Amino acid sequence: MARVLIAGCGDVGTALGRRLAGRGDTVFGLRRSAFDGGPGITPLQGDLTRPDTLAGLPAGLDQVVYAAAADDRTEGAYEAAYPGGLSNLVAVLAARGESLQRLIFVSSTAVYAQQDGERVDETSVTLPGHFTGRNQLAAEAVAADAPWPAMAVRFGGIYGPGRRWLLARVERGEACKPGLYTNRIHRDDCAGVLAHLLALDAPQPVYVAVDDAPAPQCEVMDWLARRLGGPAPPRTGDGAIGGKRCDNRRLKASGYAFIHPDYRAGYGAMLAHEEQTGRD
Ligand SMILES: NC(=O)c1ccc[n+]([C@@H]2O[C@H](COP(=O)([O-])OP(=O)(O)OC[C@H]3O[C@@H](n4cnc5c(N)ncnc54)[C@H](OP(=O)(O)O)[C@@H]3O)[C@@H](O)[C@H]2O)c1
Repeated sequence: MARVLIAGCGDVGTALGRRLAGRGDTVFGLRRSAFDGGPGITPLQGDLTRPDTLAGLPAGLDQVVYAAAADDRTEGAYEAAYPGGLSNLVAVLAARGESLQRLIFVSSTAVYAQQDGERVDETSVTLPGHFTGRNQLAAEAVAADAPWPAMAVRFGGIYGPGRRWLLARVERGEACKPGLYTNRIHRDDCAGVLAHLLALDAPQPVYVAVDDAPAPQCEVMDWLARRLGGPAPPRTGDGAIGGKRCDNRRLKASGYAFIHPDYRAGYGAMLAHEEQTGRD
């Protein structure tokens, strides 16, 4: 049984922590604010951008998952949350001689600049033009340089309970762009993938983690509109091919079986749950 620190224990981190606790791991979740992570997660307070607040982290850790998110979409916030915070954590743990079996940095498919509908996988070039991807790639490098076996897991757009961004767009009747490819993963699969990779004997250093169905934005929004019983979204743009298609074959070859293999399964489950329970 492992002693695991989830640094940045928010939506994905909490779902992961519950899963790990369920298999018998000792789980610590770190946030700046006080919180109750629920059964099996010991909450810790600290700020990854302030190393002095990390002195009280528990000793004898086996695994660390870094899943903090930037406070806002500014370059400063991204630098602080990704390479900045991860460097601080690595320095604190290395200075006191922790010998981790595994460090995972939760990254994103924003590290790819490809925008012409290309297929991308772990071997594809990463030359992000935007500060979001640049800072996540910089943090991947921090993890790779840490004195422990490290991995970067590149998630596509995360959806799931409480993450209704695309559904809300459809409900508001917003337009979609034909030809624009999009990639996504359900929150529960994010947790499932991370738990799977923490337990894998000989993992690769990088995994792309999206479901089986990179799809044009209009295909997904049309499906959601039909499922909601509303009109198909209007079209916008010139129809040119855009975005990228992320390839999950390495992840699947490692033995991961998706809970929600595509948007129909994931949004279908989410909407069925909302219909049963209502939503705020
Ligand atoms: N959203 C997407 O579609 C997407 C796509 C790909 C990858 N990702 C990545 O997935 C990861 C997990 O995302 P999520 O949805 O679980 O995010 P989330 O729910 O916002 O959780 C992030 C957690 O990090 C904590 N945190 C932020 N800054 C911190 C700091 N300086 N020190 C300590 N804790 C800090 C926050 O709590 P406090 O505010 O209380 O500190 C929060 O609990 C993030 O790295 C994100 O970049 C997201």
